[in-house]
Amino acid sequence: MCGIIGYTGSDAAVPVLLDGLKHLEYRGYDSAGIAIQTDAGLTMIKTSGKVDNLAAKAAVTEGLEGVCGIGHTRWATHGTPNDINAHPHMSADGRFAIVHNGIIENYLELKKDLEKKGIVFASETDTEVIVQLLAYYYDGDVRRSLMRTIRRLEGSYAIAVLCAEDPGTVYAARMSSPLIVGLGSGENFFASDITALIQHTKDVIDLEDGETAEIRVSGVRIFDRYGAETKREPRHILWDIAAAEKGGYPHFMLKEIMEQPQALQATLEPRIKNGRIHLDEVELDMAKFNRILITACGSAYHAGCVGRLVIESLCRIPVEVEVASEFRYRNAVIDEKTLVIVISQSGETADTIAALKEGKEKGASTLAICNVVGSSIAKLADQVIYTWAGPEIAVATTKGYVTQLIVLDLFAVWAAEKLGRLDEKTYGKLVKEIRALPSKAQRALDLSSGVGRLAKSYHEKSSLFFIGRNLDYAVAMEGSLKLKEISYLHSEAYAAGELKHGTIALIEPGRLVVALCCCERLYEKTASNIEQVKARGADVLAVAPESNRKIYGEADHVLQVPDTADLFEPVIEIIPLQLLAYYVALENGCDIDKPKNLAKSVTVE
Ligand code: BG6
Repeated sequence: MCGIIGYTGSDAAVPVLLDGLKHLEYRGYDSAGIAIQTDAGLTMIKTSGKVDNLAAKAAVTEGLEGVCGIGHTRWATHGTPNDINAHPHMSADGRFAIVHNGIIENYLELKKDLEKKGIVFASETDTEVIVQLLAYYYDGDVRRSLMRTIRRLEGSYAIAVLCAEDPGTVYAARMSSPLIVGLGSGENFFASDITALIQHTKDVIDLEDGETAEIRVSGVRIFDRYGAETKREPRHILWDIAAAEKGGYPHFMLKEIMEQPQALQATLEPRIKNGRIHLDEVELDMAKFNRILITACGSAYHAGCVGRLVIESLCRIPVEVEVASEFRYRNAVIDEKTLVIVISQSGETADTIAALKEGKEKGASTLAICNVVGSSIAKLADQVIYTWAGPEIAVATTKGYVTQLIVLDLFAVWAAEKLGRLDEKTYGKLVKEIRALPSKAQRALDLSSGVGRLAKSYHEKSSLFFIGRNLDYAVAMEGSLKLKEISYLHSEAYAAGELKHGTIALIEPGRLVVALCCCERLYEKTASNIEQVKARGADVLAVAPESNRKIYGEADHVLQVPDTADLFEPVIEIIPLQLLAYYVALENGCDIDKPKNLAKSVTVE
């Protein structure tokens, strides 16, 4: 989610680090900083905002001369984006500086221990706990102290460390967050992402989980989780810089579709412990609400359409969902017994902000589901649950949408349990099903490998229908929008049971109908809708669970998805539809990452 660069060589470190951070800007961030080893010890500058702000600060800061340093661009997860929470972080004794990607799940417990020992913290971040712990364990051997430190950490980290007493050396450690070594000539690098160093070297070594490493001008040493030195052969990167920013994918959208299992896992992991859901960030007495209203825009609204059905089904509280641009002008009848849930990837959509304000003014409690820490919506809502999808660059949201769904699923089960609506057995089963979603998302990607071929025969269709019932209809809305917004093909999502009341007049030979058939309890009903449109000459592409063999007798083509509980199927069944939209747009030569007329976040009305 963030960017790391470490350098040791014979050139001035500041320009190398700033240039590396510039190449990491595409990843999205909200603050940046560097630390340099100088003759006078470690010097650090950092700032909220862009790398250009940091460069301007460096230009007027004395004492940054040095040939070894670390740099970071931060996408805030703990602590708002400001100068203090920006990385690097320094130990209280000034001996160590650190930059970190990832989430330390037990940071509060470690922080309390260290505060009891008299250590004073400067920031709200989980990262500062690592560097203070390292200073506390320091016994003169940096790498040994670093190994002792990381053994206390739970969660994910890619870290780079400077020690004032060890000039010319950068130390690193990696667990569940990428970190690579770049092998230069007379200089060596660490980075979280190839783009930060590819202009210097294309020979890299990927650190593996549990490994620590140290780089010097003289070379690189890598140690396994037990401290034994290991030899690793470098690999040679064949990409150019533009391709490297997309991780080798041709578009950010495809990269982000493929990242969905990891994004789901990152969003889920810290919130399920010992088989129970923990939404520590939420303090809501669910018993006080007699209705819930979900409001959002675009794909976030479609996530709300799914969330409405899941929450109402489990919590037995009436749930409505409405586009923010309508809700804000409706003078809705809501009060202190209403919970208003706003969903927003960017946290800056003007209509959604206005709807949130409307809810607050009418006395409702407000909960935001948001992907950007410290965004306007996150700050305005009474409570916020973050999706940890990481920065989403493509305008058409994919990992942002599915992580909204999984947060809604978590919230629904958590709230239903609080309301006493679930017996232990049902609760345990639901939690187990949610835990399996990241791996099922990966299987859905694997099963969708043939979508590109289908897109070749569909990309010239003049208009399509996406039909479904209940949760399938909610997902049909998102599938239809994905196709429209990146391939510019007109399509319409329609409640399958409603088609016969008029719109079926538009079905004619060759009309493509995408039928979502993942809500198994309603399959027979949707199957009859498929028969109705087939009888009028439609081509039918079905999306169905792997276990459904009957669908092959009904539809012309089938996109299979893994079986999962009906309630959570939307997280999975959207995946082939995202890929269908992507490959149709590719066939049509569209600007997939930046579709015409669209913005990643519409911050104006
Ligand atoms: C639109 C985006 O502008 O805003 C959509 O193109 C998005 O992808 C919608 O779903 C809502 O944005 P957000 O950031 O509030 O979820």
